[in-house]
Amino acid sequence: MQKLAMAASSAALIALAGPLLAEPQAEVLHWWTAGGEAKAVGVLQEEFAEQGGTWTDMPVAGGGGDAAMTALRARVLSGNAPTAVQLKGPAIQEWYEEGVLADISDVAEAEGWADVLPASIAGHMKCDGQWCAAPVNVHRVDWIWANADVLDANGIEMPTTWDEFNAAAEKLQEAGVIPLAHGGQAWQDATIFEVVALGMLGPDGFEKAFVELDPDTLTSPEMVAVFDQMAKMRGYVDENAPGRDWNLATAMVMNGEAAFQIMGDWAKGEFLAAGKVPGEDFLCESAPGEGYLYNVDSFAMFEVDGEDKKAGQELLAKLIVGPNFQKVFNLNKGSIPVRTDVPLDEFDSCANKSSEDMAAASDNGALLPSYAHGMALRGAQAGAITDVVTAHFNSDMSSDEAVQMLADAVANSM
Ligand code: BGC
Repeated sequence: MQKLAMAASSAALIALAGPLLAEPQAEVLHWWTAGGEAKAVGVLQEEFAEQGGTWTDMPVAGGGGDAAMTALRARVLSGNAPTAVQLKGPAIQEWYEEGVLADISDVAEAEGWADVLPASIAGHMKCDGQWCAAPVNVHRVDWIWANADVLDANGIEMPTTWDEFNAAAEKLQEAGVIPLAHGGQAWQDATIFEVVALGMLGPDGFEKAFVELDPDTLTSPEMVAVFDQMAKMRGYVDENAPGRDWNLATAMVMNGEAAFQIMGDWAKGEFLAAGKVPGEDFLCESAPGEGYLYNVDSFAMFEVDGEDKKAGQELLAKLIVGPNFQKVFNLNKGSIPVRTDVPLDEFDSCANKSSEDMAAASDNGALLPSYAHGMALRGAQAGAITDVVTAHFNSDMSSDEAVQMLADAVANSM
């Protein structure tokens, strides 16, 4: 009732203001279609409608957003860009360079974004000094999720080293449980790979390999060991993995068919949407090794005609960074607020751990951008790495061949 009344009163205000105030419109392209994701984006739709906005939904299913990015390119090429697009990391800069992004500095300045966002994250949202995207959250990628009962029944603790992980996986396999729930899609292979790489190369090695693209690190014995571990991981995955969506892999952990999943904390959004309780039904632990891989979702506004669409972009940008949305959205999404001034007391232990670990990592130089989720590299370089990772994961290619191929692919992509 209250919501309806608010919507009615803002609609009335808009009507009173007449032609001076355009009614906010937004066509929003995103890839949030799984249970927890859909609940989370529903929060934004609701807030937008309460403020008198009309939301046209353009969901493009496909974890990691590859399909959404293909759809975006087609829309922009046909001269009909959506109003707002889920876009992140260096891809924001790439679209800015194509001259198709709107400047949202007015909202950012009026709302004081610079005072409430960490400087490193604000940097991703700026293009040539102007604000070109609105950040939603911080997802951590390097997590291991587990079914608490399955671990208990098999006398297994959350692994703290990759050797422990391998030992646990072998024990589970003997007991007839699928050790690792996985979907054989390139972005999911890349997600496991970068988590293993962070754990085994350490934060400095990860940065050299996937931020600086240093050829010596890409072909180092440590990188060979990362591919060796990937070959082991392949053995822990069931034979029906190819093509499986990530949320179906999460469901396998929920129902006890599998023990672990290595995935960003959007997986927690799935557990929560299914009524599962952290620490009781499922466990979260940072993957073995030091460091924190961040993945910040954000929305960029595209250059569009029409006062109503521009009003929609302003309203969306304002709501996205607003404190209420930051809290309610992230409670559903599994991530943590990107604003530094949102209290976390209503958030669960996994979210609190994420926030504490992120602060510690930021202090000791171990806070790193996820390459698999488009935070570290431009599309061509990230794609070149993922092609090698997935080719290795899906064949009997040796680790030595893989590192050579990796270095060549990266060199050719520049
Ligand atoms: C996005 C998340 C999303 C996940 C699965 C990631 O790249 O950052 O928001 O939930 O992909 O689709």
